Amino acid sequence: MVVSKNALIFGGVKQKQLPRRLESRDIEKEMNSRDKRWSLKGMTALVTGGTKGIGYAIVEELAGLGAIVHTCSRNEVDLNDCLSQWEKKGFQVTGSVCDVVSKTQREELINKVSSLFDGKLNILINNVGANRPKATLEYTAEDYSFMMSINLESAYHLCQLSHPLLKASGSANIVFLSSVAGVVSLEVGSIYSATKGAINQLAKNLACEWAKDKIRTNSVAPWFITTPLGEMFLGNKKKSAVINSRCPLGRPGEPEEVSSLVAFLCLPAASYITGQTITVDGGKAEREREMSSRGRRWSLEGMTARHWWNQRNWWKNSRNEIELNDCLSQWEKKGFQVTEWEKKGFQVTGSVCDVVSKTQREELINKVSSLFDGELNIFQYI
Ligand SMILES: NC(=O)c1ccc[n+]([C@@H]2O[C@H](COP(=O)([O-])OP(=O)(O)OC[C@H]3O[C@@H](n4cnc5c(N)ncnc54)[C@H](OP(=O)(O)O)[C@@H]3O)[C@@H](O)[C@H]2O)c1
Repeated sequence: MVVSKNALIFGGVKQKQLPRRLESRDIEKEMNSRDKRWSLKGMTALVTGGTKGIGYAIVEELAGLGAIVHTCSRNEVDLNDCLSQWEKKGFQVTGSVCDVVSKTQREELINKVSSLFDGKLNILINNVGANRPKATLEYTAEDYSFMMSINLESAYHLCQLSHPLLKASGSANIVFLSSVAGVVSLEVGSIYSATKGAINQLAKNLACEWAKDKIRTNSVAPWFITTPLGEMFLGNKKKSAVINSRCPLGRPGEPEEVSSLVAFLCLPAASYITGQTITVDGGKAEREREMSSRGRRWSLEGMTARHWWNQRNWWKNSRNEIELNDCLSQWEKKGFQVTEWEKKGFQVTGSVCDVVSKTQREELINKVSSLFDGELNIFQYI
């Protein structure tokens, strides 16, 4: 094999470097380093929710590449069943019964992992997730806290708990199982989408904050995948046909099509990739982006704007009454904004409201409703 075609210049006399054949020693070295780049041999991994669906496929993929894996789920029978299947396949996998929604059980899980792996963990896969698809107005406070807890809080806390172990390994990876619903708007429930969007952002923050500790962090965002969770949608023939029609590849994904990306991100071969959200979606997110940019060109935005313009109503709110009044009077004094708006025929009013308070949010909307005769064209939350 020719290793170089560069020209070398000695004492001003240009000479061509003689092609050098790779010696068997070099070939071996190259092979060794390729083997290392594409192997997880000896690395330790924790995969949450490994008994079904995507989690199951991830355990198999990591173990198949040589990792020593610990996993968890809530159902002991399922867990033992999986563990014996993996043992037969020659994979090194152990497991714990753990509900990741419970803070105490999360702590017990990480203590177990720490004692199993001598305080070192190379890979943390935050896979557990759940959905309760509903229309936004139908969600209860309990739905909200459950979804936040299982999809976001558990993963966040597991990252905190495992940080000392990940750092101690000297080369670590966190992968979050997100969703295309956290990247573009899908009709799968607004809370689910919000938690997945938050996960994507968390991956970015940790990637920067923990890079110094040699921890890479990425997020994988699938479209519909054939798992027990995916069945919620794919199990219905009509829904399934609509789902497939919206995906350029025209079919749902398989768990192994997600686990291969998750494993790749954990390999030394991916050592320069961090802070990314990567979709595994048969082109779905791209189709959405294309539709929305076409949507903008053929938009009804003008009509909405005209309607709004005629109404000429703005509503401002702030939590601090003094600040709010001060702003309004300063704007007035400066002949700026309020009076400018007034000159233009705009009307600006305001309320003291702390949006953190449920009661105050309700009062605010009641006030807006009575001011605007039960109609509101624009809602802007800053
Ligand atoms: N499938 C899809 O279409 C799809 C699409 C986009 C993103 N995702 C995301 O991918 C991830 C995996 O989804 P999946 O479809 O493979 O889910 P799944 O089929 O429902 O499997 C979930 C796994 O997690 C375990 N689990 C559930 N709740 C748990 C808890 N509280 N504590 C511990 N273990 C728990 C389950 O076992 P037990 O029930 O026995 O505990 C099971 O092993 C999720 O984060 C999901 O949001 C899935």
